[in-house]
Amino acid sequence: MRSALTNPGLQAFALPAAHQAVAAIIRRHSSNTTDIREAALQGLDLTTFRQALDLGCGFGFMAETLAPRLAPDARLTGIDACEANGPPFIEHVGRAGRRGRFVACAVGETLPWADESFDLIVCSYSLYFFPATLPELARLLHPRGLLLVITHHRSSFASLLRAVGLDPETSALTALVRRFPAEEAAGRLARYFAAVRQIDYPNRLCFHLADIDDLQAYVRFKLPLLIPGSDPTGEIPATIAEPLRAWVARHGELIIEKDDACFQCRRPRCP
Ligand SMILES: C[S@@+](CC[C@H](N)C(=O)[O-])C[C@H]1O[C@@H](n2cnc3c(N)ncnc32)[C@H](O)[C@@H]1O
Repeated sequence: MRSALTNPGLQAFALPAAHQAVAAIIRRHSSNTTDIREAALQGLDLTTFRQALDLGCGFGFMAETLAPRLAPDARLTGIDACEANGPPFIEHVGRAGRRGRFVACAVGETLPWADESFDLIVCSYSLYFFPATLPELARLLHPRGLLLVITHHRSSFASLLRAVGLDPETSALTALVRRFPAEEAAGRLARYFAAVRQIDYPNRLCFHLADIDDLQAYVRFKLPLLIPGSDPTGEIPATIAEPLRAWVARHGELIIEKDDACFQCRRPRCP
């Protein structure tokens, strides 16, 4: 693992309060009324899991739902490239009465733990940042353990990209999603896990004229992934803001495709 945050595309994730606010915006405007975390954990009993690893944990979005379901003496280790996520992650785990540990570093191709170190590994909206680590996940998982993955479908965000005047086929956001899209995930995971269960999560984000503030906050957070190098704390550049305003005025709404899929993977294959 590398020790520093070097990817400018990750700038927004170094702002946990903004990320948390955007998670609430996503929840408010989702057509799917089930919480994605509940969908991902469907049918699972996690009460015997004691060593859990959350890769690209962010501010603790998954940890909030996971931690209370783990064994009472479980330890949940969060890894994220953005150091600012440490305190909120630890807080989410601690609130559930579990032990939290946070390591700020960039996940690369190899991970520093011994074989079978974890009985639960989670990659929630993160594996597309480090897909080359997949064989390591099989190595690190205990034979009776569970890997949970949540990822987007290939065409996610296409209408958002069009609305802000970007070509979905060439945008940095599409390129990121396509590094580990839902359509390929089951096949790629099956190379390393003998049992893969897919749970589809069809969803749309619906923003109407009156929701323009939420839409702008959502777009501002996504800026570094829309225009690499742009600042998620500043004004939305006119090249993005104007087409977006015009689109919403013309159509009265913006409906963003955000179909996700969750994968429960068991029986790691020896690499
Ligand atoms: C889309 S967010 C998802 C956060 C959280 N898992 C969730 O479900 O909300 C992706 C997270 O992965 C982190 N990340 C991206 N690339 C990373 C890398 N190479 N190593 C560690 N963390 C990384 C980002 O900083 C960010 O917090």
